[in-house]
Amino acid sequence: MTTAHNRVAVLHGVNFDILDRRDPEVYGGLSLRELETNIEHWAREQGLATIFFQTNSEGEFVEYLHRLPELADDAIVNAGAWSHYSRAIADALDVAGLPAVEVHLSDVESREEWRRLSVFDGLVLAKICGKGPDGYSEALDLLATELGTSAA
Ligand code: DQA
Repeated sequence: MTTAHNRVAVLHGVNFDILDRRDPEVYGGLSLRELETNIEHWAREQGLATIFFQTNSEGEFVEYLHRLPELADDAIVNAGAWSHYSRAIADALDVAGLPAVEVHLSDVESREEWRRLSVFDGLVLAKICGKGPDGYSEALDLLATELGTSAA
């Protein structure tokens, strides 16, 4: 059920449309559709309604963030490689002003040095990484508590 203040936008950035073609050792081998199906299921358990967005275009990602306050109450953002260098996306998330959680499937802290930096530092409620799809479940738990829809 969609009630006021329970809409979570789940945003995926560059290369997530081909998630199932990326290194399964790092990303688990599942498709974006499978990942989104899991997320939708977990969200429903928490009384949250999801909307999904993915693009390989940085400009489209920024424009979606511009519209975000009309579309959702909270956000989960996995911007892929943009997370490490796109100040434009960080500025747009800042303007959107919604509570957001940053998620990465892989453990960006223990991979290459450049993946440690996140442009979302200081803008998000939490950064969850290295937990695979379960990281999204954790992010939803956090947002459900934040939005007060939590079943717990
Ligand atoms: C990623 C981590 C990023 O460093 C990488 O560029 C991705 C995926 C993740 O979910 O682990 O595209 O965001």
